[in-house]
Amino acid sequence: VKSSWIARISKDPFRLFFPVGWICGVAGVVSWVPFAWMTDPFYPGGFHAVLMSRAFISSFVLGFLMTAIPRFTETETARPSEWGIGIISVLAVIIAAFWGRTPVASALTLAQLIIVLAFIVRRFRARRNNPPGSFLFVAIGLLLGAVGSGVELISGIEGFNSDSWLDSNWLLLARLFSFYAMVLALVLGVGARLFPGILGWSEIVQAQRKQYERPVPFFESIPGDLRIAMPIFLISFFIEIFVQESLGRSIRACVVTYVAFRYWRVHRAPPKKSWMNRALLASAWCIVVGEWLSAVFPDWGLDGKHIVFLGFSLVALLVAARVTLAHGDGLHCESRAWPYLPVTIFVFLAALGRTGVHWTPGDYFPHLAYAAILWLVGAFIWGSFFLRRLRARQN
Ligand code: HEM
Repeated sequence: VKSSWIARISKDPFRLFFPVGWICGVAGVVSWVPFAWMTDPFYPGGFHAVLMSRAFISSFVLGFLMTAIPRFTETETARPSEWGIGIISVLAVIIAAFWGRTPVASALTLAQLIIVLAFIVRRFRARRNNPPGSFLFVAIGLLLGAVGSGVELISGIEGFNSDSWLDSNWLLLARLFSFYAMVLALVLGVGARLFPGILGWSEIVQAQRKQYERPVPFFESIPGDLRIAMPIFLISFFIEIFVQESLGRSIRACVVTYVAFRYWRVHRAPPKKSWMNRALLASAWCIVVGEWLSAVFPDWGLDGKHIVFLGFSLVALLVAARVTLAHGDGLHCESRAWPYLPVTIFVFLAALGRTGVHWTPGDYFPHLAYAAILWLVGAFIWGSFFLRRLRARQN
């Protein structure tokens, strides 16, 4: 029984990572609720940020990549040592976040990223097929995350005088890489291949497959427009930090908008009509609009940026939903409004509420708590439907 369980997780690592990710998301957001009303609470800012970016999103990313990469490259499935170390590192992040050990959490994130990069490189070398060309963004995203958490780790080591070689701008850039750039790059890279497939734009998918399913070096399989978009995307972070915040963000918003229109066709009704697809388009719009708002109104700070973060959370939940159904009950549930419509509505309301706190400085923390509750309702509806469907099936 034990070995068949291990074999099933090796084949479908998402069955382990998605539930753990869901628990991390709930724990990371729920912390704002008691904080608003307790008399002597612990401020959950650091705990929340670490848990959301390094445990919630990371688990969904690890689960997705460890499941998808072997299939795309037609190589071996995840080894127990690979997913085992991956899941231990996620659990260790939770403990490090709880004890406020940010450098330890950075070290663990770095370890996670090295594991996943090694996982990809091993399969990439043995590949019988190229992965989709847009996965260039996945590789760059993981590298950005590794650089960001590496710099944060070094600067956070006690007694280390970061001023001697790192000024605060480089640290800001590292934070931007590890908390946000990595996830955005992953959404663009995975989304450019996955979203058109889910939405039913079969001609886009066929053109992509024709380009990457060929015995050519991977670089040749990358679409020309993404080869141009990648350096612009990278430069935008440096411009944001070192030249002008709004300019850097606007350049990046242009790249995101380009991918959203060209590959996700957010401006068109998708050929496949389903509640899943409406929800996916809503999450895409959440990210596009959030990027532009944070470019045009940089003074909204993290309050504005959370529109993008909540968009990421919706994408993670929806991609996980698709993977779960595709490897289980089948996709017929996607045509039903439940749970897609309420999950989307609650995440949207949470996004509005989370950004809205910017205008309620007097009641900042209670409003954070209301936004958190809205997100949690959405997450629980998702969990009530998908968690039991994630259980490994007997074959
Ligand atoms: C509605 C629920 C949410 C609330 C009330 C909330 C609240 C907050 C607050 C107040 C901060 C600032 C903490 C500080 O600097 O002390 C923060 C930071 C952060 N949040 Fe959230 N958040 C929510 C949802 C999310 C979600 C769903 C994600 C990720 C998918 C996320 C990711 C982050 C990250 C990465 C940071 C740190 C960003 C940085 O410092 O650069 N949050 N959140």
